[in-house]
Formats: sequence, C-alpha cells, structure tokens
Amino acid sequence: MADEKKINRRRFLKRGAVLGGTALGGSVLTLSGPAMWKAAAEMINGPRVPINGVGIDDPMVVQLSLNENPFGASRHVIEAVSRRMFGMNRYPFHNRLEEALSEHLRMPENYILTGGGSTEILNLAVLSALYENDGNTITGQPSYYDIPSRTARLGGTVKRIPTNKDWGLNLDAMKAAIDENTRIINICNPNNPTGQILDPDALERFIRDVPEQILVLVDEAYIEFAGESYRSMIPLTTQVENLVVARTFSKAYGLAGVRVGYGVGQPALLERLMKFRIDGANKSMLSIEAAIVALQDQNHVRYSVDMVRKGREYLYPELEAMGHEPVHTETIFIPVKVDGIGEWLMGQLYIRDVHITRARGMDGHIRISVGQPNENEALIAAMKDAGGSLF
Ligand SMILES: Cc1ncc(COP(=O)(O)O)c(C=O)c1O
Repeated sequence: MADEKKINRRRFLKRGAVLGGTALGGSVLTLSGPAMWKAAAEMINGPRVPINGVGIDDPMVVQLSLNENPFGASRHVIEAVSRRMFGMNRYPFHNRLEEALSEHLRMPENYILTGGGSTEILNLAVLSALYENDGNTITGQPSYYDIPSRTARLGGTVKRIPTNKDWGLNLDAMKAAIDENTRIINICNPNNPTGQILDPDALERFIRDVPEQILVLVDEAYIEFAGESYRSMIPLTTQVENLVVARTFSKAYGLAGVRVGYGVGQPALLERLMKFRIDGANKSMLSIEAAIVALQDQNHVRYSVDMVRKGREYLYPELEAMGHEPVHTETIFIPVKVDGIGEWLMGQLYIRDVHITRARGMDGHIRISVGQPNENEALIAAMKDAGGSLF
C-alpha cells in the first residue's frame, strides 16, 4: 500500500515536471508548483501575532458592533480550510457536515437542516409558515429583527410583546397573544439585544403549550455563552413536532464570515422549510470544511466563551464607574444605559475608531460587543477620552 502511494506521488511529480517544460506549462508550474505550497505552508505555520480586530480590513479599528467572536476562528479551521482550497474545483455533494452535527448533538441526521448562517433557517421558517397563509408572527420587543422583518416583507402582521422590566421575554404575554391567525412564534434565547436568558423549565412548558399548528422557532445563536444553568431546547424537538431550534457557527465558533448555521426539528417539519430552499447553493466546500473542523475544536469554543466572560467582568465595573448602567448578560454583548448620550457617544467613539451600535428597542441604551482584552481597554480609554463619563 505504502509503495503504491510512493509510486503515485512520483508519477504526480513527474507530470508536474512535464507541464513545467512546455511554454504554457511554465506558468502553470509557477502557480501550482512547490513555491505555492511553500507559501501556503508558511501562511499556515507562520508566527501568529495577536492582531487588533482579527479579520477586519483596518487593524486600527476596534469593531464592537456586530457580536462577532473577537478571537477569530480556531487555528485548526484556518489550516484545514487552507488545505481544502486546493480542491475548490470539486462540488461538495456530500453530507459530512450533517453527519458531524448529528454526532455532536446526538440527534438523528434527518433532524438537521444546515443553511447559509442561521439567517437562512430563520427565513425558511417564516417562509414555510407564512408563504401560503396570511397570519401573524409573535415576537419579543425588543428582540432579533430577522423574523419580524421577513414577516412584514411577506405581508404578515407582527405582534410585538414587550419584555418584562428586567428585559426578559414575557412568555405569559406571548402566550396570551396567540390567536387563530398566529403562524410562528419567535423566541430568541438568549435574547438579542437584551441579553437575557429564560428559565429552561418555563420555556419548555411554554413550548409544549403552543398549539401544534403554530411553528415555534427558538433562536439559540448565543447559547454557548450562557451559564451552566441553561439547557438547549434541541432534545425537546424529538417530542414536539412544531419546534425548530436554530443554531449558528457565527458566534462562539468564530465563523461569521463563513455563513453556516443549522436548524434542528422533526423531519416532517424540516421538509416544509426545505420547500423554500435553493438546493445545493447555500454552503461551499470551504464553509463545510470550516464548520466540521470548528466542531472538533471545542477548546477554542471554551476559550472564546471564557475570554468573553472575563471581558464582561472587566467592562461592568469600568462602565459603572463612569455612571452608566450595563445590563448584565450571559452573551457576547452588553446593553448599556447611557442616559441620553447614546447617539453622541457612538459618534465620539466612531471618530476614535471604536465601533459600537444602538441597542435597538431599548430606549437610552447602546450595545457593546465584548472584544479582546486590549479592545475592551481601548473602548474604555476612548470613552474617557471623549468625556463619556456621566460624573
Ligand atoms: C439572535 C441572532 N440570531 C441569528 C443571527 C444570524 O446569525 P447568522 O446568520 O450569522 O448565523 C444573529 C446575528 O447577529 C443573531 O443575533
């Protein structure tokens, strides 16, 4: 076997040399020959310097507005994707990501629908629930915008149910809002932008009580950052036929730019979602490779989650010392009550190359994504420099 491999390798090298000997082949050899492999190997194995704002074009900008993982992707993912690039000419017609997810989640493979980010799953859910029927969507206010905005674009009605005073979703009021035209209920947990997480027993009771013709979408985009007390609703999908749980590789796994997410639900329900999918076009060979290898590197997920928790613990007292009121969360972002100076502060930080955003729907609050330690420090320094303290 080993000998056979050696022979094949020799033949491969010889073919390369022949190509290189022709006028046309010369350039082929420069592109696909040893120099390129050397450059690739250097890129993969070269020194890894911690960079401000990993992955953004301007390394001076501190990007804290989109809830991305500031620690980047796992090194193993970068290596694997770099290697896989040499096979870009092949179609990725296989189920390896679904198989890997099935093993990771301990769920049957036909319970898993992968998509171009969890955005695709959220959109397919709304399409499947509302495309052929008029009706309404129930969602928290504030909550993640995608499901309500897609509902509105399809001509549906959005029932926005205000959160409790502590910014948690009000499940009783959401239940009371159900009527015969309700098609989908959106539960973002932990909720963006409020950052609060529901008691899992209360959420499970709520889900079980929703009439079975209504699709319940639980969006667990930030679930990895939640403390030990939370449990995912994924296992409940085996018992509840109208439940889909959406997950993403964009946050704790550090793959926002790669666009991979998935939904978990019973096969019959997923089939309804799949009717609206553009088959064979939502993932690439590289995105599939990235997600599979990211799943295998749980150390990177734990590292990111732990660093984000430390970042939150650093930021809370710093923000409080300036007179602001950070809302404590179990996520990668912090809504902060800044008493009427939000717009001014965002502008001041922007000109100091620190990008944050509004906590939409939370009056008087900004939203800060937790960054690398030096980025968190840069944020606080910029706030002080701008005179952003209320004292
Ligand atoms: C709550 C929530 N759900 C879903 C998404 C979409 O994530 P993606 O499409 O990258 O998986 C986001 C993105 O910020 C989000 O905050």
